[in-house]
Amino acid sequence: MHKDLESIVLTREQIAQKVKEAASWLDEKFKDSKPLAISVLKGSVFFFCDLLREMKTPVQLDFMTVSSYGSKAQSSGMPKIVMDLAASVEGRDVILVEDIVDSGHTLVRMRDLIMGRGAKSFTTVALFDKPSRRQVDIKADYSCFEIADEFIVGYGLDYAQQYRNLPYVGILKRSIYGNV
Ligand code: PRP
Repeated sequence: MHKDLESIVLTREQIAQKVKEAASWLDEKFKDSKPLAISVLKGSVFFFCDLLREMKTPVQLDFMTVSSYGSKAQSSGMPKIVMDLAASVEGRDVILVEDIVDSGHTLVRMRDLIMGRGAKSFTTVALFDKPSRRQVDIKADYSCFEIADEFIVGYGLDYAQQYRNLPYVGILKRSIYGNV
């Protein structure tokens, strides 16, 4: 285990199992469609790749970089589009892939933006849901894990851009982020 972690909450095997289940759910939902899957960078990148490789449905991919936290532990409440999509979403069934839904501001911003651009449908899949932190009334259509309000890192999730490439998810020691 990484020295900055207090404990591991999910092993790579536990994550892989849930990713498979999420892929099956998407396959069933989109069996008659050719969806466009969007990764909300950077946090969702590992989940996105693993999820799409487990899917049997042919999907197209696109990416958007959205940032609301910077190096802070609290959401700014105003997610910023740092890099926009390359593809048009008009008339498309869009699958938005998030690592975590926390305050919910990013999901609201993405939904409004994508539906505002004329998408046919908008489906969200999140690896983690932290309902206790919600500030706006929104929920992913599919969440792999509901978690308590702990500062977790790994498998895409960061603190100050670190720990993203840990293959498991763990709780960060308070001493690392305590002065934020
Ligand atoms: C994180 C995370 C989600 C968003 C969720 O992104 O990846 O996109 O915050 O938080 P919210 O529900 O409070 O909006 P962040 O802005 O930290 O960028 P990152 O993906 O590059 O880590």
